Amino acid sequence: MTRESANAPFLRNAWYVGAWPEELASGLFGRTIMNEPIAFFRDAGGQVNAVEDRCCHRGAALTDGKVIETGLQCGYHGLVFNGKGKCVEIPGQDAIPPMAQIKYYPVVERQGFIWIWMGDPARADESQIIDWKFHDDQKVYPHRKAVLPIKANYLMMIDNLMDLTHLGYVHSKTIGGNPLSHVSAKMDVTRTEHGCKLVRWMLDALPPPTYLKGVPFAGKVDRWQEFEYVLPGSVLQWSGALDVGKGAQQNRDQHGVHLRLYHAITPETENSSHYLFSVGASFGQDDPAVIETIFNDTYPTFIEDVEIMNNQQARIDLDPGKPLINIKADNALHHARRAFNAAYEAEQQAMRQAAE
Ligand code: FES
Ligand SMILES: [Fe+2]
Repeated sequence: MTRESANAPFLRNAWYVGAWPEELASGLFGRTIMNEPIAFFRDAGGQVNAVEDRCCHRGAALTDGKVIETGLQCGYHGLVFNGKGKCVEIPGQDAIPPMAQIKYYPVVERQGFIWIWMGDPARADESQIIDWKFHDDQKVYPHRKAVLPIKANYLMMIDNLMDLTHLGYVHSKTIGGNPLSHVSAKMDVTRTEHGCKLVRWMLDALPPPTYLKGVPFAGKVDRWQEFEYVLPGSVLQWSGALDVGKGAQQNRDQHGVHLRLYHAITPETENSSHYLFSVGASFGQDDPAVIETIFNDTYPTFIEDVEIMNNQQARIDLDPGKPLINIKADNALHHARRAFNAAYEAEQQAMRQAAE
């Protein structure tokens, strides 16, 4: 059995996590998404904007400029652009030609994310943005964010997150444990409206050391790991544990360990990505060391994943058409790929129809 190329194309009409607001602390920040250099800037009114990072005068990078009262000023000859990419000032010249316009991208800053829409601005619908209420209150869900560059196609990281069987191999030095316990653990995969969800239960298990740092479980626990892929570049993770006997499978909303991780994978090029993730925990809120420890326990595992993927992409690039085989453990990632492929085909068809 073979499968399609590991390198997925770009899905354009969708919201991606473009940046963390913390990355925009200086007011101006550059990032390439889908091969397009983009300048994010916070204007004088506090609004975040995203425009093409290329001045329409002589092509200078606007991220070499600065933010002033009227917009983003090019650092070469001083043209100023507003958040819609329109030139609003040309030093020494009153008339602004209509061609003095650069591309802009709809952006929404919400719940500690800066979302960017990479497709047709007219189709940008804010109601499609994922609700991540766990970022709303640092006191209830303390969290820490980070960014890692990946030299691999963005769906390669989705494959990785929707596959828990690699834990015993890639993460043997960190969280892995016995490889075969991961391969044989029962997993349920279901389709969702915008992707798919993978749920795994480990009943009557010993709580892992990280969990014990936050909650002093007396004995064994019922553990779960839930990974939901949401098109095109997000995986929402809910992992946790409750004391055995609390009926965790019927009702998980009880006091125990709850970890909420947001994994956002935003394509930089066809074979490189930005991995923005946030690690949140709803326990040990009074002690800042708890979330720090959880973050520090988690971060090295992501580095391990990235190292695998960087080399994987390098091998695939040598001969992108060379077939790969499917195994049983790929079930969830294939659900995710199928959801992606269907969305991509629908987008291509809509674009063809619009062009007719
Ligand atoms: S290149 Fe930007 S103002 Fe000249
Ligand atoms: Fe991993």
